[in-house]
Amino acid sequence: MDSLNRHEDYGQELLDETHLLADPLEQFKDWLREAEAAQIYEPNAFVLGTVDEEHRSRSRTVLLKGVDDRGFFFATNYLSRKGEAVAANPNVSAVFGWYSMYRQVLIQGVAEKVDPAESDAYFGSRPHDSQVAAWSSHQSHPIENRAALDDQFDQALAKFKGADVPRPNYWGGYRIIPTRIEFWKGRSNRMHDRIEFVRTIGGYGITSEWQIQRLQP
Ligand SMILES: Cc1cc2nc3c(=O)[nH]c(=O)nc-3n(C[C@H](O)[C@H](O)[C@H](O)COP(=O)(O)O)c2cc1C
Repeated sequence: MDSLNRHEDYGQELLDETHLLADPLEQFKDWLREAEAAQIYEPNAFVLGTVDEEHRSRSRTVLLKGVDDRGFFFATNYLSRKGEAVAANPNVSAVFGWYSMYRQVLIQGVAEKVDPAESDAYFGSRPHDSQVAAWSSHQSHPIENRAALDDQFDQALAKFKGADVPRPNYWGGYRIIPTRIEFWKGRSNRMHDRIEFVRTIGGYGITSEWQIQRLQP
């Protein structure tokens, strides 16, 4: 386990306030494009953190499926552990770790279910077998063995053979409405650059302007 004793130099490329776009969502898109160009594996994967009804934290990887000026869109099962947690507490976090670029983006915000029409549109864009899978897995619930899981899938495949697969009402999208977005750039000697955008969400979902600040590494 050599990695435990390695001290890698994270480079000289700096990040300062003048390098960043005024809109952090546009800046995020730039970094995502650069992560794609650098051929990072699954550059749109992020670690989603939730807190459940009993204040227990849990994280897992999901895929970003859309980003615009409203926020970050991903899709999942609304009855999964993450779905249950978001229903009890909409505060979530997201971590994009593009380690080979010495970059990470940290997001805090509130997750909202998207409009059913938006979930329908995204579900409709998925491959047929992925759509079937949404019907054949009660995500996060125990099952006795793999054979039973395969059986559920085969039954759903047979049911929807040659037919359009409707979106199950327990499956759909969330949008993370961000209140904090931090751009982190690794630097030499652990003196990393951290630039954070912060805003507040008031009544009726009205957001304040983004404020920008540098954080100590
Ligand atoms: C690279 C990667 C991408 C994933 N993408 C998704 C996704 O977009 N949606 C999803 O529900 N689960 C996705 N998963 C599976 C989740 O990590 C997790 O196992 C599942 O959502 C159940 O989480 P929960 O029990 O905490 O709700 C992905 C896993 C990996 C490793």
